[in-house]
Amino acid sequence: MKPSANVEGEQTAVHFDAVTKRFDDVVALNAVTLGVGRSEFVTLLGPSGCGKTTLLKLAAGFLGPDGGSISIEGKRMNDIPTYQRGIGMMFQNYALFPHMSVAENVAYGLKTRRVPRVERDKRVADALALVKLKGMENRKPRQLSGGQQQRVALARALVINPTVLLLDEPFSALDKSLRTSMQVELREIQRKLGLTTIFVTHDQGEALSMSDRVAVMSEGRIRQLGRPVDVYRSPADPFVASFVGDNNRLRGQLVSMQAKQAIVALGDALVKVSGESLSGLEKSAAVDLFVRPEQFSVVAPEEPCAIKGSVVAQIYQGGHVDLQIECAGERLLVRSPGEQAVLRWPMGAPVGIGIQADRCSAFPAA
Ligand SMILES: Nc1ncnc2c1ncn2[C@@H]1O[C@H](COP(=O)(O)OP(=O)(O)OP(=O)(O)O)[C@@H](O)[C@H]1O
Ligand SMILES: [Mg+2]
Repeated sequence: MKPSANVEGEQTAVHFDAVTKRFDDVVALNAVTLGVGRSEFVTLLGPSGCGKTTLLKLAAGFLGPDGGSISIEGKRMNDIPTYQRGIGMMFQNYALFPHMSVAENVAYGLKTRRVPRVERDKRVADALALVKLKGMENRKPRQLSGGQQQRVALARALVINPTVLLLDEPFSALDKSLRTSMQVELREIQRKLGLTTIFVTHDQGEALSMSDRVAVMSEGRIRQLGRPVDVYRSPADPFVASFVGDNNRLRGQLVSMQAKQAIVALGDALVKVSGESLSGLEKSAAVDLFVRPEQFSVVAPEEPCAIKGSVVAQIYQGGHVDLQIECAGERLLVRSPGEQAVLRWPMGAPVGIGIQADRCSAFPAA
C-alpha cells in the first residue's frame, strides 16, 4: 500500500508508514500503513490481540516502533515524547484520580502544562459544559455514575485542545443504552470540534455506526480500510466478511465469469457477485459465498430455486426476527423484518429460502 493511499496527502493528520512492533517473538503490528485525514473519525476494529491498542500506544508515544515511522501533521513523531505530541487520550480503564474532584481531574493536564489559573478555570468549565457535566465540578469520581465518569475522562482528554484524540474502547464498560447515547454524543462533540480521532473497538456495530472509515485488523495487519458501507457490503476477504456483521458462509460453484461479474450456483439458485475476488478461478471451481441474513427471505419450500430446510430456532429481536434454518446439516441465519415470522414459520416448519441475488460476496473456497 502506498503511504497516504486513502486521503489527500496534505490533509493527512496522522500517518503510520509501514509500522512494525514486536514483543519478543510476537509480531503485534506487521508493516501497518494508515493515513487518517484531518477531522476524520477512523475506527480500528478487530478481535482481541490483533494490535489495536498497540497502534494507539505508538501514536501516543507510550511505545516506540521497531520499524517504520509515525507522523502527526506532517511531523515525524518517532522520537518525540508523548506530552509534545498534542494527543488527547481515553483508555479502556479510564482511571480518574479518586481523591480529586471532577474539576481537578479535568484540570490536571493543564496544570502539568503550566497553563495559568484563570485560563485553566475557563477551559475546565468549557470542557465540562461540552460533556454536559456543569454543576458537578466538586464531586469525587465515586459520586458519579459510570457514564458520568466516562464524560469526565472525555473532558480530561479534550481540555488540552488536542490535535488528535485517541480513544481505546472507551465505552466497553457501559450498558447498551448508555453506550449508544455516549456514542452519539462523542460523535457530535468530535464533529463540532473537527477533531481528528482514532477510536478502537472490537464491537463491529459501534465501528459501523460511528466511523467515517473503519480499518479492520487481524493479526497485526489492516485487512481492509474503507467506509462502513463498503466494509459491510464489499468485504475484501473472508475474514472481513465473517467479522463485520452477521454472515452465512455457503459452498457454491463458479458458473461463469465475465469482465467484472461472476455467476455462482448455489443448488438451483444463481447468484451474481463481483468478479474481482474470484479472478483466476476456473469454471466449476468451488467458492465460498457469503450471504447476509437480511439477503435471505423465507419462501414456500416449493418455490423454484429455493433452498429447502426447516426452522430450528426463532430469536425474537423486537424489530425483526432471526430464524435459524437447518438445510442439509447446516444452519443458516435468516433475518425477517417485523414480527410475523414468529407465527408464520413456527419451529419445525418446512420452509424455502430465497436469496437476493446481487448483494453477496464470494471468495475462492478455503
Ligand atoms: N507489553 C507487552 N508485552 C508483550 N506482548 C504484548 C504487550 N502488549 C501487547 N502484547 C501482545 O501484542 C499483541 C497485540 O496486543 P494489543 O494489546 O495491541 O491487542 P488489542 O487488539 O488491543 O486486543 P484487545 O481487544 O484484547 O484489547 C497481543 O498478542 C498481545 O499479547
Ligand atoms: Mg486493546
